[in-house]
Amino acid sequence: MSSKSLEGKVALVTGASRGLGRAIAERLGREGATVAVHYGKNREAADEVVGTIKAAGGDAFAVQAEIGSVKSIGEMFATLDKELTARTGAARFDILVNNAGIAPNLPMEETDEETFDRLFDVNVKGLFFVTKQAIGRLRDGGRIINISSGLSRAVGGMNIPAYSATKGAVDVLTRQWAVAYGGRGITVNSLAPGAIDTDMNAGWLRGNAESEAMITSMQALKRIGKAEDIGDAAVFLAGPDSRWVTGQYIEASGGSLI
Ligand SMILES: NC(=O)c1ccc[n+]([C@@H]2O[C@H](COP(=O)([O-])OP(=O)(O)OC[C@H]3O[C@@H](n4cnc5c(N)ncnc54)[C@H](OP(=O)(O)O)[C@@H]3O)[C@@H](O)[C@H]2O)c1
Repeated sequence: MSSKSLEGKVALVTGASRGLGRAIAERLGREGATVAVHYGKNREAADEVVGTIKAAGGDAFAVQAEIGSVKSIGEMFATLDKELTARTGAARFDILVNNAGIAPNLPMEETDEETFDRLFDVNVKGLFFVTKQAIGRLRDGGRIINISSGLSRAVGGMNIPAYSATKGAVDVLTRQWAVAYGGRGITVNSLAPGAIDTDMNAGWLRGNAESEAMITSMQALKRIGKAEDIGDAAVFLAGPDSRWVTGQYIEASGGSLI
């Protein structure tokens, strides 16, 4: 018998070409899941992730969509259906990780209408319509993991209200969907990272001693989070051991602002 917890399962991870999505996709792949690696603009990076998963003995393929566009999401699912049918005989899957997102770190005074709309288009509308398309394709007993943020719970010194509000909306959708699809055994949870060293934060966090000190001063665990910390946490929510956990906000933040 295989000791891999996700053997035979199929996952779609959005925003898997880089950062947290990449770490999640690679970890799900190592657990035996076939992974659809979604990307937006970085085909090369997505291909690299597919290559890494395959090199570790797993299976993966890349799918593209502009997550802010419902039309583009529809086109991605048409491709996904073809790929899944060719590989598994059915256009069905088991695990959806809604991870793709953007974070222009702006205070209210510097947030214009275009930035606000773009944030909600990608982080909320996109996540909503990806899930709308996914729900009929997800097998009973499936998993939905919505990547939220510690900022939907606690502000700390982070003055970025529009971004934080998108993640509050994500948490509301988590609870709505947990109730709506619980009858099918589908669990839906928000996984909320604290500040993690990814491209998203490269401009203000990476290699900046002052920012690192500010972040670690808020955390119980005294280091900057890594993408792998989130990939490992996601495996629990994607796998069989989390079967009785749904509608929850689960923070993986090194104990930020407890
Ligand atoms: N890093 C953190 O500290 C942190 C903390 C809390 C929550 N989060 C959340 O975690 C998620 C991932 O963050 P990250 O740090 O890994 O970000 P990242 O390094 O900037 O990577 C973002 C990923 O999302 C994709 N993406 C972004 N906008 C897209 C769009 N409009 N259409 C399609 N794909 C799009 C990118 O694809 P391409 O590169 O292919 O375009 C990329 O794969 C986000 O939802 C973010 O809000 C991050």
